[in-house]
Amino acid sequence: MSVSRSALINVMVRAAEKAARTLIRDFGEVEQLQVSKKGPADFVSAADLAAERTIRAELVKARPDFGLLMEESGKGGPADAKSRWIVDPLDGTTNFLHGVPHWAISIAAETDGMIVAGVIHDPINDELFWAERGQGAYVNSKRLRVSGRRHLDQALVATGMPFKGRKLAPNYLSELDLVMAETSGVRRFGSAALDLAYVAAGRYDAFWEYGLSPWDSAAGAILVTEAGGFISEVDGGANPIFGTSVLATNSELNRPIRDLIRRAGSPPAKTASV
Ligand code: IPD
Ligand code: CA
Ligand code: CA
Repeated sequence: MSVSRSALINVMVRAAEKAARTLIRDFGEVEQLQVSKKGPADFVSAADLAAERTIRAELVKARPDFGLLMEESGKGGPADAKSRWIVDPLDGTTNFLHGVPHWAISIAAETDGMIVAGVIHDPINDELFWAERGQGAYVNSKRLRVSGRRHLDQALVATGMPFKGRKLAPNYLSELDLVMAETSGVRRFGSAALDLAYVAAGRYDAFWEYGLSPWDSAAGAILVTEAGGFISEVDGGANPIFGTSVLATNSELNRPIRDLIRRAGSPPAKTASV
């Protein structure tokens, strides 16, 4: 079945697919570079920058009136723009660098401060996730729905943990401890954009992470809500994209997961002294 996509989504898809072609070629090179003493780090950061330049050129050509918020080059475009693009040219850089085939390109469109469309492209698996406000969420031409699981002990939960000296959120390890104990399992696959797309697709039942940036979560956020799920900050706050944490769940487990995570932050119950 073919699903018709809006002109806005088509602009985003074209940009993502163009960048994907060079990233795929570069990903092939990375495998060769693993064995070199220096490793592929400089090569990957050049590939990342080149992908961002490709995406930027495509988006600016199609919508010169939009502003830009891009991971590598920051803010750009007209200062008074009503709409802007929020872009991560390569989400899952550490995977890419190590030849792990789990990374994606993430592009969101924001109008008047609201995310109106999102595209997350995983070219290795030929999966193009996309969503537009009020129009639903899709992978390629298949409609997405979050999972219907209602019980924590059946839930598969994704997370992201700090690395390279990034600070650990104060309660994160106790949260992880509780979530591991009470759910069917925890996954850390290394691409927040795909983690959110997988919640939208009903593969994961929930995802939480601290310290993400808007380009990590903007496109994923609209995928989750358009697939019938919830996204908020971990404490329930309403600003997951520009705030300090993200919690995405299916429609059944929002309260149970939030309660579980809140429990991790409470001081342990006092034991009676004898
Ligand atoms: C990272 C990935 C990772 C998450 C990090 C992000 P990058 O993005 O999404 O899963 O845990 O917080 O920074 O650096 O690969 O674009
Ligand atoms: Ca990212
Ligand atoms: Ca990135």
